[in-house]
Amino acid sequence: MLIREAAAEDWPRIWPFWHRIVAAAETYAWDPDTSQEEARALWMGPAKRVYVAEDATGTVVGSAYLTPNHGGPAAGVANAGFMVDPDHGGQGIGRALAGHLLTEAKAHGYHAMVFNAVVETNPAVHLWTSLGFTIVGTIPEAFDHPRHGRVGLHVMYKALD
Ligand SMILES: CC(C)(COP(=O)(O)OP(=O)(O)OC[C@H]1O[C@@H](n2cnc3c(N)ncnc32)[C@H](O)[C@@H]1OP(=O)(O)O)[C@@H](O)C(=O)NCCC(=O)NCCS
Repeated sequence: MLIREAAAEDWPRIWPFWHRIVAAAETYAWDPDTSQEEARALWMGPAKRVYVAEDATGTVVGSAYLTPNHGGPAAGVANAGFMVDPDHGGQGIGRALAGHLLTEAKAHGYHAMVFNAVVETNPAVHLWTSLGFTIVGTIPEAFDHPRHGRVGLHVMYKALD
């Protein structure tokens, strides 16, 4: 598998799984009806450094972005987002993308990474804790999950120093 920076031409290959994941409304605090153009701005806007994972056949099977979590004096903390095509899930692609982004974040001068809204029922919580992220707080009943009802949103943090 190859992880590389995304080019604008990659967007049409990211969009099908982006849409599938956001439309499921189980993991991201974005409108399930987000249009393709709005989605592109959310995922590949100018503040975002975007990566894709390609399998051996050149198929884009996952994507991630890296961006400052806030501006000014808080811009040393990174935020990142991850999506793996559900048809290619459970093969270590998410873990590989996360490892790559932690390395990239450090290389670009960030001293920490934060996830602002990790749905507490998301199996990804296990992935993040296994990589050294801790839950610094949970916003109770903040996410209306289609199967679990109102569930909490974790803020998760990892120092990169
Ligand atoms: C989270 C996500 C990026 C993980 O990608 P992936 O390629 O399926 O994950 P991996 O195969 O690398 O697995 C990583 C670990 O997370 C766990 N995990 C991740 N997603 C899981 C799932 N849907 N079901 C069960 N376990 C899961 C696995 O147990 C695995 O642990 P292990 O390495 O100790 O076995 C992917 O499931 C995804 O895109 N989910 C929807 C969007 C999302 O939730 N993004 C993160 C928002 S915080």
